[in-house]
Amino acid sequence: MAKVLVVFAHPAFQRSRVNRALVKVAESIEDVTVHDLYETYPDFLIDVRDEQKLMEEHDAVVIQHPFFWYSSPALVKEWLDLVLEYRWAYGEGGDRLKGKILAQAISAGGPEDAYRREGSNFFTVRELLAPYEQTARLCGMGYAQAFTVHGANDLNPAALAECSQRYASWLSALCDGSAPLWLDSPL
Ligand SMILES: Cc1cc2nc3c(=O)[nH]c(=O)nc-3n(C[C@H](O)[C@H](O)[C@H](O)COP(=O)(O)O)c2cc1C
Repeated sequence: MAKVLVVFAHPAFQRSRVNRALVKVAESIEDVTVHDLYETYPDFLIDVRDEQKLMEEHDAVVIQHPFFWYSSPALVKEWLDLVLEYRWAYGEGGDRLKGKILAQAISAGGPEDAYRREGSNFFTVRELLAPYEQTARLCGMGYAQAFTVHGANDLNPAALAECSQRYASWLSALCDGSAPLWLDSPL
């Protein structure tokens, strides 16, 4: 079984409903480690060596976060900027992530049909995630199809339970190596 690291980022976890439920699911799966970035680094002072070691110890890395302005909360960007070092993640001799999988688990306030050409957000979620997909490519990683929750602020308890179930299946597919990748299919 592959070991999956969930790098979780939510700047207001106390107010979270969806990500709170998803984190609980992730924590219940044996081969999954949940690492809470805002809890670990409230001052944004990231320990690069610790983060690199964690990534080296896992086969797949899931960045789990709410969609903020069509992207991630700020600490995810800081984490990527600092941790994916030249000669470690990419460039000459930088092959420590090669062969691993990168994936994202995202909750979005907007409904699914808003993320289409004819929808209010015009771009698809995959198009908006292109910088992460290309980051995976540069580091020699596979990029798995994202897990998405739409209409995240309007979910009733039954819909939230369905999302949790879906997340458990999606994470399990990453653990058993059956998660579909996006890298080789066109946008
Ligand atoms: C600063 C901010 C920016 C947001 N930007 C987006 C966005 O670009 N697209 C979207 O669909 N939802 C957006 N939302 C809504 C959040 O994604 C949504 O509230 C969150 O996924 C709910 O998950 P939670 O219950 O774990 O907090 C934004 C919310 C905030 C606070």
